[in-house]
Amino acid sequence: MSPLTKQNRTVICGLDIGTTKVAFLMAAVGEKGVEIIGAGFAPNTGVRHGVVVNIDQTADAIRKAREEAELMSGVQAQKAWVSVGGLHIESFASSGMVAIRGDDVHLDDVHRVIEVAKAVAIPSERQVLHVLPKDFKIDGQEGITDPIGMSGVRLECQVHIVTANRSIVQNLLKSVEKAGVHVSGLALQQIASAGAVLSDDEKKLGVALIDIGGGTSDIVVFQRGAVVHTATVPVGGLNFTHDVATGLRTTQVSADLLKVNQGCALPDMISADETVQVDSVGDRPARTVPRLSLCRIIEARAEETLKLIHRELESKSLLPQLGSGVIFTGAASELKGLVEMGSFIFDMPVRLGFPRKVGGLTDVVKSPKFSTALGLILYAVEKESEKITTTDSESPRGNVFAHWGQSIKDFFSRTLQ
Ligand SMILES: Nc1ncnc2c1ncn2[C@@H]1O[C@H](COP(=O)(O)OP(=O)(O)OP(=O)(O)O)[C@@H](O)[C@H]1O
Ligand SMILES: [Mg+2]
Repeated sequence: MSPLTKQNRTVICGLDIGTTKVAFLMAAVGEKGVEIIGAGFAPNTGVRHGVVVNIDQTADAIRKAREEAELMSGVQAQKAWVSVGGLHIESFASSGMVAIRGDDVHLDDVHRVIEVAKAVAIPSERQVLHVLPKDFKIDGQEGITDPIGMSGVRLECQVHIVTANRSIVQNLLKSVEKAGVHVSGLALQQIASAGAVLSDDEKKLGVALIDIGGGTSDIVVFQRGAVVHTATVPVGGLNFTHDVATGLRTTQVSADLLKVNQGCALPDMISADETVQVDSVGDRPARTVPRLSLCRIIEARAEETLKLIHRELESKSLLPQLGSGVIFTGAASELKGLVEMGSFIFDMPVRLGFPRKVGGLTDVVKSPKFSTALGLILYAVEKESEKITTTDSESPRGNVFAHWGQSIKDFFSRTLQ
């Protein structure tokens, strides 16, 4: 197997370490855009609510997912971009101001004002994951998204800063390194997912993406194309499974299968005479129960989860800004009836967000469970092309990435809608 290149294209890997699974995606990136060449998937028991609690179990899951992806692609995966999530994530707004050096704003002024905005005291136990520019002001004029080339004397910038607990991130990195994968970079789960699922128009108009996973529901809100809020609600698909297991007195495995195959968040969508087979715990025989009983248990948890998310958005006064509505992604969002319940609770359009913007093995990854892994690859592409525009575009590697900027933009605009 050849490392890191495939037919003159650069291979980029996305490693999503979730509460229930590890997803490993490999993409060949070149002038034609991003093409998925390998995907691996393994159940994970080493993470709780997005945080690594067992390094060995997590490393095992990463190894399995990576091997599967390598087998599919025929390429060795040496490094990957990795997702970070969990309740330890915090975010806050900050701002900075600099004098514009020339007559108009240059990239250097933008870098300086962002440096000033991020120069806030961060406790030593925390590390910065993202510094995301929200809004620029020139001489007091608000609402500028791209200040480069504009005239003025004073440049201000508002940023959204995301931080993570340093030790929790260290344990995540240890799991990845233990699986033999070098970490190229980190990204917040929902920010990665957003890159794979949302269109630029949705981000500009205002949208909330909710990545409903196994252990957490991760929120990111965009306004005028920029991230304005990130938050995590500590409820996910595992809570639904646990409720079904307790309510119907069955095992977690059977409860999960019942939820995925027969579950529905809106019992009105189910007819009263439908029944389901429920495995009993121990040696007792399986029972037949009305499907409505299963769905009522799920309905209660779905309603509570969506109301928690609604409350989070409402408390930050973000609901009126969501011109493009709410988008669910993450595997647990595939629960039947959830989108319909969401439209009712949020009182605005809700849709399911599938990963897109790629070529290659699209069928394999066209599922909300791959949103984060694919988003990591797209995030990496963006970061690498940013580096090239500001640093060395003469190196051979630079040439590959230098083409990305325009050709990937073209590719995305073709595949977006
Ligand atoms: N079709 C489906 N209907 C309902 N739930 C589903 C379906 N498919 C998967 N799930 C649930 O989705 C959850 C896993 O979601 P996902 O893979 O996005 O989580 P994760 O990334 O491992 O966790 P997290 O992001 O919270 O750390 C599980 O609880 C699983 O039962
Ligand atoms: Mg996830």
